[in-house]
Amino acid sequence: MSDSILVIGGAGYIGSHVVQTFLKANYRVTVFDNLSSGQEINLFKQARFIPGDIQNREQLKELFTEKFDAVIHLAALKAAGESMEIPEQYAYQNINGTMNLLEAVSLSQTRIVVFSSSAAVYGMPNYLPLDENHPVDPINFYGFTKYEVERFLGWYDRLKGIKFASLRYFNAAGYDPGGEILGLEIAPANLIPVVMETAAGIRAEMSVFGDDYPTPDGTGIRDYIHVSDLARAHLLAYQKIQNTAQSLILNLGTGKGHSVLEIISMAERITGRKLNYTVTKRREGDPAELYTGLKVARETLGWEPEFSDLESLVKTTWQVYQHPFNRK
Ligand code: WQD
Repeated sequence: MSDSILVIGGAGYIGSHVVQTFLKANYRVTVFDNLSSGQEINLFKQARFIPGDIQNREQLKELFTEKFDAVIHLAALKAAGESMEIPEQYAYQNINGTMNLLEAVSLSQTRIVVFSSSAAVYGMPNYLPLDENHPVDPINFYGFTKYEVERFLGWYDRLKGIKFASLRYFNAAGYDPGGEILGLEIAPANLIPVVMETAAGIRAEMSVFGDDYPTPDGTGIRDYIHVSDLARAHLLAYQKIQNTAQSLILNLGTGKGHSVLEIISMAERITGRKLNYTVTKRREGDPAELYTGLKVARETLGWEPEFSDLESLVKTTWQVYQHPFNRK
């Protein structure tokens, strides 16, 4: 029988793409999600769905009486700005929630955890491209919660033999190119969804946070990685740990950055609409440029981004914004 994978947060934006990737590779998948930001429309009928919450320790222990070959943990709050205003909620959800999960895992037969970490663990870049040896020094509470979990994972590896992959995502974007995943995030704050909402007329205008950075067009540069490429890296990370029994920490990005204005002009080309934007002052805590090196992901996983060119990122997102399900 094929391996059995539990995806916590599998109804969310990244989680649903992870579920799809494992299903396509013929794994058995169980989704555990409290649907707080995950959505029913993102569930696949080929995956078993268990509604539940990582704050419920008893439910988690019950869940883990079954043997899973791995758990992929993506259930977290993820807005860096918001984390500075309500740190208690980020601590509770991202740290306590993960502690509950690790307790249940350590009591079970499951010995592989794939964790959704973030480039936010690094804080301000001292050099670029930012590699895995860069010092870790988060500048927002969100990044702090992700780094704390990584440290716990290191200890559970030593003490309990739980092997983990900590995947430090750069800017996840895009949607399933096959058009199967349709859930849009509610009140998104990230650039590409904000651009799409402006193009779709859901919002009247948008802001470009600063055009006086030391970059070619003055706007911020980020490493946008297509969510299906990101999802595939979870599968490869799991398989790698199965084969080597070694934990991994790696960055997931494309190695290349795009500016805010490049994204806006690609969106204007793809949507055929003019975007109403104003340049405002810089957003606090934003570096001018952030992109990763690909060496470690390439060498460890044999992974290459396939869909992460700017056109595919914007096109696959626009396709979901234009879908009848989202135009009700
Ligand atoms: C991208 C660029 C903005 C919105 C955040 C989190 C990070 C990770 C990914 C979860 C920047 C500019 C944005 C807008 C703009 N999250 N921008 N107008 O800040 O790189 O990363 O999401 O793991 O932890 O911090 O992403 O999409 O917010 O911004 O001009 O309305 O777009 O200044 O240059 P960011 P973002």
